[in-house]
Amino acid sequence: MHPEEAAGQASRISMHGHWSSRMAFILAVTGSAVGLGNIWKFPYVAGQNGGGAFVLVYLFCVFMIGMPVMMSEILIGRRGRRNPIATMALLGEEEGHSRHWQWVGAMAVVAGMLILSYYSVVAGWTLAYVQKSMSGVFAGASAAEVSAVFSDFTGSWVQTGVAHTIFMASTIFVVARGVERGLEQAVRFMVPGLLLLMLVLLGYAINSGSFGRGLAFMFSPNFAALTWDGVLVAMGQAFFTLSLGMGAVMAYGAYLPEETSITSTSAAVVLADTTIAVLAGLVIFPLVFANGLNPSEGPGLVFDTLPLAFGQMPGGVFFATIFFVLLSFAAWTSALGVMEPAVAWLVEHANRTRIQAAAMVGGVTWLIGWGTVLSFNVLREFTFFKGTIYNNIDYVTTNVMLPLGGMFVTVFATWVMCRNSSADELAAPARLQIVALSRPLCSTGGDRIHISACGWRFGIMAAPASNAGLASCSNA
Ligand code: PHE
Repeated sequence: MHPEEAAGQASRISMHGHWSSRMAFILAVTGSAVGLGNIWKFPYVAGQNGGGAFVLVYLFCVFMIGMPVMMSEILIGRRGRRNPIATMALLGEEEGHSRHWQWVGAMAVVAGMLILSYYSVVAGWTLAYVQKSMSGVFAGASAAEVSAVFSDFTGSWVQTGVAHTIFMASTIFVVARGVERGLEQAVRFMVPGLLLLMLVLLGYAINSGSFGRGLAFMFSPNFAALTWDGVLVAMGQAFFTLSLGMGAVMAYGAYLPEETSITSTSAAVVLADTTIAVLAGLVIFPLVFANGLNPSEGPGLVFDTLPLAFGQMPGGVFFATIFFVLLSFAAWTSALGVMEPAVAWLVEHANRTRIQAAAMVGGVTWLIGWGTVLSFNVLREFTFFKGTIYNNIDYVTTNVMLPLGGMFVTVFATWVMCRNSSADELAAPARLQIVALSRPLCSTGGDRIHISACGWRFGIMAAPASNAGLASCSNA
């Protein structure tokens, strides 16, 4: 262990800069969490999996698994202050285990790039819908006309490919410029703006949609409609929507100031993210039922329902345009987080400038994205395992790689890191802070903090007056 590292994380600073305040960090993580996952993906997977029971499992996973994983990622990131791969290697060694924990970080980076590949394509659809809304094609359009717009558009690989390219280029541009500039400001107006517009839409859905049916679809659980695969999808969606299991939150945690409370920060982010997803469902399902649409139609659901609502409400062209602008922003702040771990790794280990690193990561991801672009047109019939190329990339990353990564991260924060190290991160700075605190289930006599879902138990812990006594590990 290097002497500098033995001194503990107090002396560690990130080479990429730090967030200017706690609020800045909350905004950045919220910006990464709130995105297409909430408004595009949540309603469509809930619809495909029968609603009610799925939503219940999803909410359970968000709060009981997602939140502890988020806390783990932030605390590991902040302690290591490097990119996820290097952080896992460094802490693995420092805590008396192995550098091989870096492979968890590596899997996260790969998952992130695969997710970004299709995320950018759907974000491209959103961008195109800004232009379509502005042109007024949706004004007074019928359900059939609105869905024809969607299928004509996604049926064209040229149009969707161009949109994908524009979105990826703008992401590369911002990531190349660095973590702090711009991002804070973008999120500051985007999340409240999105929330406000969702409320406007909710008003419309209550008045003009089949609100009762929508509500029942989302909240009255019909467990017969839920399959085991549906449970897996609900868990995957919880990871996806909170940006967990792929190093994005860990990478942001590396820039988090020392004294910020990890627990309350995570709670704020989880709450904001869940609110927006539930609102999206409450808007979309009443419209689906009122217009005789199919809740399980898949990735086109949002693009078929919301423009229909906008087309019928007063000031619809204006609201629709603003909505898709905000959604594009939301997608974009999420994409930045997905790209960060790989870029940080190239900068730290391959001696690349940020600009080169962003261009390399973005370029490779852009290429992979063509698999998704073509899944909706030329290669629509080319299916295997779970469906099209898009379906497979999504299934493997969201439902397998993210939960697996999240599980390793939690095991790391709870069983590999000694309790002192984790407690050190979790306790600062509140005097009395609620932390989930318990012994490991299969303790070998070690004294390690336990914040995973199984055995999740609240304890109240007084923060030490000074962290000095906690810096060394008693059982490493
Ligand atoms: N959480 C983002 C969303 O809901 C998507 C995302 C997934 C971002 C994974 C980063 C990592 O849209």
